[in-house]
Formats: sequence, structure tokens, C-alpha cells
Amino acid sequence: MIQIRPFSPEDRPAWEPLWQGYLSFYRSALPAGVTDVTWRRLNDPAEPMHGLAALLDGKIVGIVHYLYHRSTWTVGDYCYLQDLFTSEEARGRGVGRALIEAVYQRAQADGASRVYWLTHETNAAAQALYDKVASRSGFIQYRRVF
Ligand SMILES: CC(C)(COP(=O)(O)OP(=O)(O)OC[C@H]1O[C@@H](n2cnc3c(N)ncnc32)[C@H](O)[C@@H]1OP(=O)(O)O)[C@@H](O)C(=O)NCCC(=O)NCCS
Repeated sequence: MIQIRPFSPEDRPAWEPLWQGYLSFYRSALPAGVTDVTWRRLNDPAEPMHGLAALLDGKIVGIVHYLYHRSTWTVGDYCYLQDLFTSEEARGRGVGRALIEAVYQRAQADGASRVYWLTHETNAAAQALYDKVASRSGFIQYRRVF
């Protein structure tokens, strides 16, 4: 049975290896100060940023982070699902799907008009999951980094 629940501040030791695993998956690393701020925001009810943990046998094996922002196209906010990660040992057991569906439920309850996210074009495993739970928008992301 997969349990899904919001983070609490004591979850940091369980959350951090998954967060680092996610960053490594995308060949990224962040300064420790950024991870500190992110964790603080994820646990601050005044922030529009939220996180959920997925537990199997009482152990956190998956995480998702999402945030709300305004939209010029709708009265309700949009929900951006920014990060999703399942530990390697727990993959293929429905954890990723359960986390996405939990974000859907919360976003709808919070009055959001959509949940959306990005993935890399080479991430076939993620796309195999996403194609089952959402539709492709056809939009391409551009960015300029400062
Ligand atoms: C992508 C990821 C989150 C999927 O998590 P997961 O817990 O293994 O996914 P699930 O077990 O919920 O899979 C759900 C569905 O997707 C499909 N799927 C998941 N991984 C797959 C894979 N590697 N190949 C083919 N299909 C796959 C499954 O068939 C499953 O379908 P079913 O529910 O009908 O059986 C996980 O592989 C991961 O953390 N990868 C590294 C980080 C990453 O890519 N994050 C997403 C970045 S955008």
C-alpha cells in the first residue's frame, strides 16, 4: 500500500537523498544554501510551494514538489509540478503515478484550473508514465538563464 502525505520538517533526512538523487538524475548539483531554502519553503504554509512524500512500508520512497502561480487565462491558479522522483528500488510499483494523482487531487481542491509539467525529451521512462495520466500540450520550452 502506497501512502501519500505532506512533508513535515522531520522528513529532511529522508527527503534529501531523494532530492539529491533527482538532481543527479538530471546531472545537476545545487549549492547547499539553495537546498536549505527549498526545504524551508516546502514546509512553510505561507509559501505557494508544496511537497508530498510517498511511503512504502513506512519508508519515504518518492517525492513530488508543486507550486501555484497566477494565470492570465483563468481565474484559478495554475499548478506547476516541478519535481518528481521515485527511489530506484521502488520504481515500477505505482509510486510516481500515485504522487501525480495526489497532486491532481490537491490542486483541484485548492481551486487550480490545471496541473502541468515539463520533462526532458530523452526521458522515456517519465514519458511512459505521463502519457498514461495526462496529455501532451505540444508546447516547447524556451529559456534564458541569468
Ligand atoms: C519517472 C519516475 C518518477 C516513474 O516513477 P515510478 O514510481 O517508477 O512510476 P510508476 O510505477 O507509478 O509507473 C506508472 C506507469 O508508468 C509506466 N512506466 C514507469 N516507468 C517506466 C519505464 N521505465 N518504462 C516503461 N514504462 C514505465 C509503467 O508502465 C506504469 O504503468 P502502469 O501503472 O499502467 O503499470 C521514476 O522512473 C523516476 O524517478 N525517474 C528518475 C527521475 C525522473 O525522471 N523524474 C521525472 C522527471 S520529469
